[in-house]
Amino acid sequence: MTDPKRYLITSALPYANGPKHIGHLAGAYLPADTYVRYLRAQQKDVVYVCGSDEHGAAITIQAMKEKTTPREIVDKYHEMLKNNMADLGISFDIYHRTSAPIHHETAQEFFTVLNDKGDLQIKETEQYFDEEANTFLADRYIVGTCPVCANPNAYGDQCERCGTSLSPEQLINPHSTLSGKPPIKKSTTHWYLPLDKHEDFLRKWILEDHKADWKPNVLGQCKSWLDMGLQPRAVTRDLDWGIAVPVEGAEGKVLYVWFDAPIGYISATKQWALDNGKDWKSYWYDKNTKLVHFIGKDNIVFHSIIFPVMLKLHGNILPDNVPSNEFMNLEGDKMSTSRGWSIEMDDYINDFVKAENGGDQMVDALRYYLTAIAPETKDSEFTWKGFQEAVNGELVAVFGNFVNRAFVLMHKLCGGKVPPFHNDIVDEKDRQLLSDIGSAKENVQQLIESYKFRDALYEVIDLARKGNRYMQEKEPWIVAKRVDETGQPTAEAQQVIDNCLHICLQLTANLAIFINPFLPFAAKKMTYMMKVVDKMLDWENGGKTKLLSVGYSLRAPELLFRKIEDAEVLAQVEKLKIKSKKIKEMTTANEQPTSEPVKEVAIKEIIQFDDFAKVDLKVGTIVSAEKVEKADKLLKLEVDLGFETRTIVSGIALHFSPEAIVGKQVTVVTNLAPRKMRGIESNGMILMAEDADGKLQFVNPDVVVVNGSGVS
Ligand code: 2FM
Ligand code: ZN
Repeated sequence: MTDPKRYLITSALPYANGPKHIGHLAGAYLPADTYVRYLRAQQKDVVYVCGSDEHGAAITIQAMKEKTTPREIVDKYHEMLKNNMADLGISFDIYHRTSAPIHHETAQEFFTVLNDKGDLQIKETEQYFDEEANTFLADRYIVGTCPVCANPNAYGDQCERCGTSLSPEQLINPHSTLSGKPPIKKSTTHWYLPLDKHEDFLRKWILEDHKADWKPNVLGQCKSWLDMGLQPRAVTRDLDWGIAVPVEGAEGKVLYVWFDAPIGYISATKQWALDNGKDWKSYWYDKNTKLVHFIGKDNIVFHSIIFPVMLKLHGNILPDNVPSNEFMNLEGDKMSTSRGWSIEMDDYINDFVKAENGGDQMVDALRYYLTAIAPETKDSEFTWKGFQEAVNGELVAVFGNFVNRAFVLMHKLCGGKVPPFHNDIVDEKDRQLLSDIGSAKENVQQLIESYKFRDALYEVIDLARKGNRYMQEKEPWIVAKRVDETGQPTAEAQQVIDNCLHICLQLTANLAIFINPFLPFAAKKMTYMMKVVDKMLDWENGGKTKLLSVGYSLRAPELLFRKIEDAEVLAQVEKLKIKSKKIKEMTTANEQPTSEPVKEVAIKEIIQFDDFAKVDLKVGTIVSAEKVEKADKLLKLEVDLGFETRTIVSGIALHFSPEAIVGKQVTVVTNLAPRKMRGIESNGMILMAEDADGKLQFVNPDVVVVNGSGVS
């Protein structure tokens, strides 16, 4: 959308069912905050809304685990999330909550409009029911094996391992999280959103109108949903926690959490407008509003298919974009709060921000690394060593070092004032750096506007790097040694020094403008050092090379960032291991960790020996392995089966590097019908076991056997 009148930016509403980790922060909050700060620096009319998602089984199950009420759970975690986000500089205009009365009213009105217009269908269907607990099993009350990635603990609404959105019927070996028993089917009435009726609209709107501006991961997921064929989707549930279905005779039923949560963006806007004397309607009805939903990849279908259909039916504007990130892994494994393999925002804040040598600079340090490794196109990985290298090697050694040197030298060689600029001695290096400032602005702008925050940040650091190089080449401290009889630099030498530091200081002012959307605390500190008002950070000032007036005296430099010590890295890695070990022990001792359903051993139905005998299992050796292009999870293997070497495509890339598995013996299902994956024909399947941590392990003989040996 070119030149919108106003912007409405949203970040996915986190469930108020526990602490959230830095992977969440990197996925839906940090990029949105960066975007919003950039828009604000342009004086755009922008509202940034978010809030806690306080309904659904995620909340009630947590209440059961903590032996308390859903109300207590949402109150506790809403407060925690709200504070965490604020501490990390996420600058929402409002952080609302879906248990607020204004949200209940808004969601009920929304439902009523659709229902009254005949846009919903009412159907009586058979749903899973737990006889022992005497309750229907919606969403997270039911777990089973994910049909996509074989995760044995996938929820009835979503597999948290691969991010696929599911319905309970798709789970293999479903069982209740309440009793652990397989459920029965029982009939019940629900309201459905007939997505199938909107397929043509969605195809055109997503795959044609937005084919050039939506990210490939979003378009890809939408396309595969559309190609699979959309089904009517239930928007009500048999639960006692949530928003009552506003229809007579629907007692005991509530709106599906995924129906009410995105409406939370609307109710949050309403509340913000009430608090600020604004008109909320223009943000949701005027076509000149640019609506952008920032989300993680597990939320794609809800924001690009389901909610847009709801918005269209209700007469609202549609999102202009749905920038979604992939997942961020941690130290070689999936990030997961329930397994203790995560860095909670709350923990980072306590360990670094509120620590003695912490403060805002440690917020910026985290913001920096998370943006530098943002999982924008594929899953990425946080390591504490990587954090240390990025902070010490880039923030401290490049950005901080440049700003510090410019200030120190200006104080030493130019009397603490912005030196004059002598046009007559300008050389090619000066001209180049001055023009680099202008091109950096263009690049950062274009990249932020196309939601490429990682590359945009790189541009800023690269500009600082150029500044360092320039200073190194100009060597004003050496030039200062060309002194006259009074011991002062000669007039000629002083002019060279002046020009160098004049340019370096103008560059510093520009760096403050460019870094501001990403690292707001550093930018603020820089304005203090330069004795300028916040207004100088306006984006329109970027690219200007006369921001600091000649003769203006500046403050002494302050430390923008501090180094991360080896001991801190070691301590954090150790802490992670201890935390996950403790949780594992709790799980084995049958205590339930937070946010995870009881693990049940799922046993498939009995088969006859003849059925089993049909499966041909043989031992083979992996002779080569390579990554499959554009498929994060797949490896292409050549497996020597003794009688022939087969190509097998296996979904194990997240668990093993190709180099690590060449030479390994594996068990292969050799008579599985060939299947094409990413254009490669796979002729067989490797058997894998999943350990308690969710990691895959090969199923292979104890000792090496001849390739082609049968397994029975
Ligand atoms: O996946 C989640 O954590 C959901 N609570 C996100 C909701 S986003 C929106 F629709 F509110
Ligand atoms: Zn899965």
